[in-house]
Amino acid sequence: MSDVSRPSPAGGPERVPGTPSTTSTGRSGACVAAVIPAAGRGVRLGPGAPKALRALGGTPMLVHAVRAMAASRAVSLVVVVAPPDGAGEVKSLLDAHALPERTDILVVPGGASRQESVKLGLDALPPGHDIVLVHDAARPLVPVDTVDAVIEAVRDGAPAVVPALPLADTVKEIRPAAAPGEPEPVVATPERSLLRAVQTPQGFDRATLVRAHETVTDDVTDDAGMVERTGQQVVVVPGHEEAFKVTRPLDLVLAEAVLARRRLNDVF
Ligand code: C5P
Repeated sequence: MSDVSRPSPAGGPERVPGTPSTTSTGRSGACVAAVIPAAGRGVRLGPGAPKALRALGGTPMLVHAVRAMAASRAVSLVVVVAPPDGAGEVKSLLDAHALPERTDILVVPGGASRQESVKLGLDALPPGHDIVLVHDAARPLVPVDTVDAVIEAVRDGAPAVVPALPLADTVKEIRPAAAPGEPEPVVATPERSLLRAVQTPQGFDRATLVRAHETVTDDVTDDAGMVERTGQQVVVVPGHEEAFKVTRPLDLVLAEAVLARRRLNDVF
């Protein structure tokens, strides 16, 4: 079923040295796994390799995303969801790059939609990881402090947590144009101060996320949206400007600039 690039954690929960085990009284010490859906083609970025395999600073975006999750000492397992026919290629790619030894990595084939890919990643999780992060490979530069803030909020009892930022732009809700090329009529202007632009990793109590994926069939663009539909409360923690999604060619330029600044800061 799965393509394993590290010793399989299938025998039971893997403990990160120094982290407490799951307790029966809550999620304060629960083991954390991260699922990275990376099966999209990323057509908005233009022609070329699947988006997750594009290089940033000479390193594939997916490797940055795996390192970003593994940078948190709480994360003991990362499940990478590869393009349906590309699990072998992704496994070789991860094997060719340095990743923290203390983190187990699993590679599984993905599906036709993001939702399906995340579900396949969840199905591959061994028992014992009671907190699950879902992180888009397309957000390779999320800082570890943001990852840890999401984990902490789930450990503190929230069933679903999203990192998010206030919006700079005013947002309009529109009605689709009557015909192609016609202007789109505006139907509402939501109050900007109450809007948030949501990022990843999104963090969940595992049972809550699994239930959402089993019951919600609507087409949604994020996992927290599925949990909302089950009636559970989702909460927001502060996101980070460097957790932006690499979607269009200009985002690649910005990502390279962020990496260049980080390299400079490492030197000085
Ligand atoms: O298309 P979008 O940018 O919203 O994709 C978000 C994330 O979902 C990306 O990391 C992409 O690789 C992943 N995805 C997936 N399986 C799909 C489609 C998208 O894992 N079938």
